[in-house]
Amino acid sequence: MKTSLAKNTRAGNQTSVKNDSTFVKCALARTIVTGGAGFIGLHLCEALLQEGREVVCIDNFHTGRRSNVDHLLSDRNFEVIHHDITTPIFLQAKEVFNLACLASPVHYRFDPVHTMKTNVLGSINMLGLARRTGAEWNLPSWF
Ligand SMILES: NC(=O)c1ccc[n+]([C@@H]2O[C@H](COP(=O)([O-])OP(=O)(O)OC[C@H]3O[C@@H](n4cnc5c(N)ncnc54)[C@H](O)[C@@H]3O)[C@@H](O)[C@H]2O)c1
Repeated sequence: MKTSLAKNTRAGNQTSVKNDSTFVKCALARTIVTGGAGFIGLHLCEALLQEGREVVCIDNFHTGRRSNVDHLLSDRNFEVIHHDITTPIFLQAKEVFNLACLASPVHYRFDPVHTMKTNVLGSINMLGLARRTGAEWNLPSWF
């Protein structure tokens, strides 16, 4: 299906993407959880799914394991993306929870430069996504 993103308008929590002949409506009720395979992120993903929300977990599996989210993969409202947030990602979302941050000194001292990049560049990248898509921003982390 050839889809042009040239005309992409938002109305309420829906977006209309210009197609060759029709407008395809895409739901924008998506919640992004970075660090969703980690300790706090995983519990948040589970709680959001229980509320019936559509959840996209973004994780580089540095401390969180892919197997942590295995039990959620059968839920049609759940997606997992293997991605490091120090690189920008282009997705639509209604809200973003930024939990991709190493919590234990053992882990964040292992590669301090990458830890700083995650906290600064990663947060800037996810903030950019939230601003572009008008998503609510949540940073429940202490760096
Ligand atoms: N664990 C606690 O008791 C606690 C309490 C209060 C606040 N927090 C805060 O919550 C946040 C998460 O803590 P946690 O205990 O879940 O840590 P965690 O290490 O279990 O989870 C962090 C997750 O982020 C991922 N991640 C790290 N860098 C990434 C990157 N560059 N790109 C994508 N994913 C990346 C890791 O793989 C992991 O899955 C931290 O900021 C921490 O300070 C934790």
